[in-house]
Amino acid sequence: DDAHVAGGKRVLLAKPRGYCAGVDRAVITVEKALEIHGAPVYVRKEIVHNRHVVDTLRERGVIFVDETSEVPEGGLVVFSAHGVSPAVRTEAEERNLRTIDATCPLVTKVHKEVNRFARDDYDIMLIGHEGHEEVEGTSGEAPEHVQLVDTEEDVEKVQIRDPSKVVWLSQTTLSVDETMERVDQLRERFPEISDPPSDDICYATSNRQVAVKAMAAECDLVLVVGSRNSSNSQRLVEVALQAGARDSHLIDYASEVDEAWLDGVETVGVTSGASVPDVLVMELLEWLSERGWLDVQEVTTANEKISFALPRELRSDSGTTR
Ligand code: F3S
Repeated sequence: DDAHVAGGKRVLLAKPRGYCAGVDRAVITVEKALEIHGAPVYVRKEIVHNRHVVDTLRERGVIFVDETSEVPEGGLVVFSAHGVSPAVRTEAEERNLRTIDATCPLVTKVHKEVNRFARDDYDIMLIGHEGHEEVEGTSGEAPEHVQLVDTEEDVEKVQIRDPSKVVWLSQTTLSVDETMERVDQLRERFPEISDPPSDDICYATSNRQVAVKAMAAECDLVLVVGSRNSSNSQRLVEVALQAGARDSHLIDYASEVDEAWLDGVETVGVTSGASVPDVLVMELLEWLSERGWLDVQEVTTANEKISFALPRELRSDSGTTR
């Protein structure tokens, strides 16, 4: 057709993209808490790292706090999908807060691994990003056993006591390739380092990376919908560039696309992080279609079926499950 011949403009849309089971569960948890208990519902930290989700919930009566000390005595507080350290739970208990735990079950799994290896007195090398909430919660399970490995320099800095009792674990939302690089570096220093019983990088993180990789080389530009502080969204930009996309940007909203990025571009790849509602992707496709990118082809590398039951606290309160 004419449009095609004239511009060759097309969109490759990654699948899977967007909401993972843990984010879906966390957002529904807060919505249900509002429904059952009424506003205000307090949430410690951003429930998930997405601006749109946080702003929407705030409008509906959620008060986001940094620490539980900001929640009034007896208040209801939801712990975010990234998880919390035992110290945070204790503090909430001491202040008589009612709590609902929206920690993703796959994050909880890593917490349990930390506990197990700490009990066996291992030195735990936690691969993750300094300052990220998930890492703070996970290392808080056994601070005296866990050392964070973020950069290559950290690999040189860590100290161990017994070379036969070292294990690596990881944040759930990292780049698969970069993590394995770090593991190789650790193994060079500590040849006896143990692997985790199962992969900590979650299915959603790796599936979204595989999908963007599959289309990146064909793309002049890859647009990733996601927020700056979303680790897995940022990784998608990096993976796209490493896999051959000529250019890639992270945006919260279609309105943030700089028209200059589209100069000379034919194929635009589109994907989104695990905390991103698909309505934001649809808005981006609409924005692109207004500029001539009408041909949208989905590139599917996996079909996700996984979903998690709601937190126990909600199941008993409301009698509903999904
Ligand atoms: Fe959980 Fe992975 Fe999503 S750890 S919150 S399923 S990105």
